[in-house]
Amino acid sequence: MIKSLILAAGLALGFTGGAFAAGGEGKIKDVDFSFEGPFGAFDQNQLQRGLQVYTEICSACHGLRYVPIRTLSDEGGPHLPEDQVRAYAGEFFEVFDEELDDFRPAKEADNFPGSSLENAPDLSLMAKARAGYHGPYGLGINQFFKGMGGPEYIYSLLTSYTGEEKEEAGVTLYENLAFPGGWISMAPPLYGEDVEFADGHGNDLSHISQDVAAFLTWTAEPKLMARKQAGFVGVLILTILSVLLYLVNKRLWAPIKGKEH
Ligand code: HEC
Repeated sequence: MIKSLILAAGLALGFTGGAFAAGGEGKIKDVDFSFEGPFGAFDQNQLQRGLQVYTEICSACHGLRYVPIRTLSDEGGPHLPEDQVRAYAGEFFEVFDEELDDFRPAKEADNFPGSSLENAPDLSLMAKARAGYHGPYGLGINQFFKGMGGPEYIYSLLTSYTGEEKEEAGVTLYENLAFPGGWISMAPPLYGEDVEFADGHGNDLSHISQDVAAFLTWTAEPKLMARKQAGFVGVLILTILSVLLYLVNKRLWAPIKGKEH
């Protein structure tokens, strides 16, 4: 009872605070990703679709230089067959080889290349570097209930262009309701139906944005599933230990409390 009251109070604070803190922050849309919650897991097909969106669209400007290409075949990730990863690396990416002193097709042992557009940030850790949820009053209570919101931020960024543009000091800025400050120098990269998925999955703007946001969550935290599993085992062991402690305690005190056992 008391617990639920505290929860309700926290939630109320969170919601009103969210409205309050809206000032400089962008508007973030909530998405139900498969990897959320204590038992959440990456959806392998979604990661593969996200990889395709990244490769065909985002990689024209953004790099993923902290991500080893071979991890695309990891279980818990996109889990592509190894020969496919090898072919993919050589087909789509070039890396600079210091020994050759020249560019050569990437191998699976390489990392993805860095950004090819100078002012486009590397996306390897972007899902962790941005928070979708803030406040209230800098307390981070919203994050406690809804998570950090990195993937939601990326999803919202891709789907919140208004179509307005302006020119400032020779740079074109595009109005985007999710971007802090409201104007971003990245032109809308996705409009919907920008890619064709081999599995026939929906490719409207909302779907492909979710897919690439999920993929970028995996690049930022490839061990998310292992971490959740380890956490679960930890809680299980602690629970068993608690029960044992309770029983031992009862047994030890039984003679003093005048009970048999
Ligand atoms: C034509 C080049 C180009 C393409 C293609 C492109 N971006 Fe960007 N992106 C940029 C630039 C430039 C910035 C820096 C914008 C700024 O800070 O004003 C940026 C910034 C970002 C940011 C960071 C925003 C922030 O909070 O700082 C994210 C996330 C992002 N892009 C995601 C993507 C995704 C996902 C795709 C593919 C669907 C993509 N971009 C395609 C050029 C591009």
